[in-house]
Amino acid sequence: MMVRVPSVLSADEVARCREALARAEWVDGKVTAGEQSAGAKKNLQIAEGSPLARELGDLILGRLGRNELFTSAALPLKVYPPLFNRYDPGMNFGTHIDNSIRFAPSTPVRFRTDISATLFLTAPEDYDGGELVVEDTYGTHQAKLPAGDMVLYPATSRHFVRPVTRGSRVSSFFWIQSMVRDEGQRTLLFDIDISIQGLRRTVGESAEVVRLTGVYHNLIRRWAET
Ligand code: NI
Repeated sequence: MMVRVPSVLSADEVARCREALARAEWVDGKVTAGEQSAGAKKNLQIAEGSPLARELGDLILGRLGRNELFTSAALPLKVYPPLFNRYDPGMNFGTHIDNSIRFAPSTPVRFRTDISATLFLTAPEDYDGGELVVEDTYGTHQAKLPAGDMVLYPATSRHFVRPVTRGSRVSSFFWIQSMVRDEGQRTLLFDIDISIQGLRRTVGESAEVVRLTGVYHNLIRRWAET
């Protein structure tokens, strides 16, 4: 399942990030890539664990902490400290799959990457190309979202970023270890949660809604690791 999470950051917060990133030192993006993806990756990044990455990353984590759509779709156990990348004209990231296990910068904390996230920080009209393309058995799905919006997609998927041909594409990217490891189970829970919220709005707190809410929580009890 791919989910768009709109307005994770406000326009002001996006501007603040972009200003800080414009003054930052960018390094070759291969530093965080695995062996296969290093060959496919042509972009720039802010050094992982740098004070700026931490400061902006904390802002994003704070916003995600109170974002109901994100919580419902990802059921996050741990969110990897956000990283930042930039694609200038001629840069792209060929087809790859994200590493399954990652260590948080300078810590022994391991993350299993269940969900990949890209938070767009450049308005789509300010660059050409740069679409994130996710492949699944049905074909391909692409994302190029307004600045401040985020896309979540299964980290199990092959994906790539099309070459940028004009302007620069700046974004934040990171991974989520979900309480519910299985993508199919997460999708079911998300569907149930969306349905319950809709029913609450249309029919109110009926006995059936209460029962369905119970089913939702009891499935989480069955499937979640905490
Ligand atoms: Ni990737």
